[in-house]
Amino acid sequence: MFDNDGVFRPVPFDSEALRPRLPSPLEEVADERFARHGVRLLLKRDDLIHPELVGNKWRKLVPNLEAAAGRPVVTFGGAYSNHLRATAAAGRLLGLPTVGVVRGDELADRPLNPSLARCAADGMRLCFVDRATYRRKADPGTLAAVLSAADAEDAYVVPEGGSNAAAVRGCLALGEELRDHADVVAVACGTGGTLAGLAAGLGPGRRALGVPVLKGGFLGDGIRALQTEAFGGPVGDWALDERFHFGGYARTTPALEDFARDFEGRHGLPVERLYVAKSLYALVALAEEGAFPRGTRIAAVVTGAPFSP
Ligand SMILES: Cc1ncc(COP(=O)(O)O)c(C=O)c1O
Repeated sequence: MFDNDGVFRPVPFDSEALRPRLPSPLEEVADERFARHGVRLLLKRDDLIHPELVGNKWRKLVPNLEAAAGRPVVTFGGAYSNHLRATAAAGRLLGLPTVGVVRGDELADRPLNPSLARCAADGMRLCFVDRATYRRKADPGTLAAVLSAADAEDAYVVPEGGSNAAAVRGCLALGEELRDHADVVAVACGTGGTLAGLAAGLGPGRRALGVPVLKGGFLGDGIRALQTEAFGGPVGDWALDERFHFGGYARTTPALEDFARDFEGRHGLPVERLYVAKSLYALVALAEEGAFPRGTRIAAVVTGAPFSP
């Protein structure tokens, strides 16, 4: 980063502030909805890796912060993005300038919601762009215009959701940590970057199950593209179950809310609603459908924690 004299000083990466708890804890829980089908449920507590870069955010962001080598970081997200908040927090912890490009120019004239307010409080400069521009942000011309408008031409760019080859490789370790302990590993998917790395790290005889929280059915191609970028081609045994988006991103239903509250009561952990709740719901439904042979060890990755303003 540039200090007051305009001198470039790389951020020392071995930062105490980002020190993780790894491998993250793996906890078996007693839940009769699984036990009666002869299967075991383990919770992979990635929500305990780091208090501010929670869950998959630490695994995905840290390789990118390293690659940024002290340059300002620009990234993208919606108004409630967990990824934007984590990037802003990393910026504060490392003393690194961050810029958040936010979907929806109408938001510029409104008071910041609690999630964006946290980003701003952590020092992230917010730039609001209209939805059409936001959709085209991967197009080089559009990206250059967005970066220029944000006065961030020299910044290191992290894509929406933090998913690029570095992030996917960062999630390899999640699979490696689980390969000796679980037969099936379930994870909620937004961009699919976490699943892409997890599946590659699991190794032979293990299966990764992705639960997309967005509607659309287009995620498989994106995951194959991410794996090709990160590893040169598709890798690992993974599949998606597209039935549990509950209407799409950030949508919920009373049944999902009841489920999440009940799960918190049963197992004493906070359940993040946008992603984690949907993946846990999917696992319970699949167990009830008899989708897992007796003796299967299922790990559910707790990829985040609820945001409390
Ligand atoms: C809590 C949580 N879980 C899961 C995901 C999905 O990660 P990915 O985009 O790598 O599929 C996200 C993405 O932002 C998230 O915030």
